[in-house]
Amino acid sequence: MSLGLTEHKKVDRQERLARIREALGPRSIVLIGLMGAGKTAVGRRLANRLDLPFIDADSEIEMAAGTSISEIFTEHGEAYFRQGERKVIARLLEGGPQVLATGGGAYMNADTRANIKARGLSVWLRAELRVLLKRVQRRDNRPLLACGDPETVMKKLMTERYPVYEEADLTVESRDVPHDVIVGAVIDALAAKLGCEANAPQDAKAHQEHSRKKVQ
Ligand code: S3P
Repeated sequence: MSLGLTEHKKVDRQERLARIREALGPRSIVLIGLMGAGKTAVGRRLANRLDLPFIDADSEIEMAAGTSISEIFTEHGEAYFRQGERKVIARLLEGGPQVLATGGGAYMNADTRANIKARGLSVWLRAELRVLLKRVQRRDNRPLLACGDPETVMKKLMTERYPVYEEADLTVESRDVPHDVIVGAVIDALAAKLGCEANAPQDAKAHQEHSRKKVQ
């Protein structure tokens, strides 16, 4: 029985995802970027597509502390939160392969950056100010944005952080489109980086083989 064109495409896509997983080995895919960049929403869907566990660093910090991030900031201050964030992410990075979404400030820590470099593949979800502001408006769980006018705070963070985020292994533009579109762009970027393109030599061979069987 021969496969139709759509089935071939599905098989190709599945093969490409399997190759990405293989090339990744024990490394984590680490999503970085500002608040509202879509790290959690994209990360969850990406993990699902790649059949990998999804871990959200902020949720893990809250679980370890037994309280919310807002509470940690109010009770103990930002420096204390950053310390916990560094430790929790170091622990999580030992658990790859996985998709790990990090809080916006995590990658600014030099130790965390080095650790991500050693144990992961970093993907910066880069977004424009307008997109970030639209997304963060939906929730009020971000203590940094509660300290002043969100647009002013966000602009300042973009100036401080974008030059550092640029060190990420991959950059994907997080546009104002459905999250699945961004997931597709991340998968394309991963495939290119890891040498798992659909038109790789082994794919061409597989196609020839399929066509040969179909003709027979
Ligand atoms: C922060 C981002 C938040 C959270 C904390 C601090 C930051 O995570 O870690 O409020 O410094 O940018 P998200 O980026 O997931 O919102």
